[in-house]
Amino acid sequence: MHVSHAEDTAGTRRDFLYYATAGAGAVTAGAAIWPLVNQMNPSADVQALSQIFVDVSGLSEGSQLTVNYLGKPVFIRRRTAEEIEQAREVELSELPDQVARNPNISGEVPATDENRALDESGEWLVMTGVCTHLGCVPLGDGAGDFNGWFCPCHGSHYDSSGRIRRGPAPENLPIPVVQFTDDTTIQLG
Ligand code: FES
Repeated sequence: MHVSHAEDTAGTRRDFLYYATAGAGAVTAGAAIWPLVNQMNPSADVQALSQIFVDVSGLSEGSQLTVNYLGKPVFIRRRTAEEIEQAREVELSELPDQVARNPNISGEVPATDENRALDESGEWLVMTGVCTHLGCVPLGDGAGDFNGWFCPCHGSHYDSSGRIRRGPAPENLPIPVVQFTDDTTIQLG
């Protein structure tokens, strides 16, 4: 399907509008690190943002929050049971990129959904929302042919685990350094 440039731009803008409304008030920079970096380093503003905390208590199943982290969108998705099941029944051999792309696990591990989800049940998936082809922001909420994300720029389809399944993108959407600090707070960085 051909998608015009104008539509691409509109899609991306919608994505960020969603971020602006859904993300408001949900993100706090790490308060504890402010005094220290202010004294030590002229680029304190940049360093302070290298770690952010996101309150995900308002996120219902099947919805997604996009936060801006180090200048890039990060998708935080609370997946449905169906999305988890679809992601977990895929055979590794079906994947164009079989590497998990998850820096939270040491070594180069296979791209199973278990190796990409943030928690054991797979309810939470956190990824950098930048297409691995040429850097557009893919559209989410079950977009594309694999019920995941779709990059309209050149037609890359990502599945519900953020793994590339069809199109020119060479790699799975990368996972950032991320962890839960309590039941409802996700730390990036
Ligand atoms: S930038 Fe996403 S398909 Fe080209």
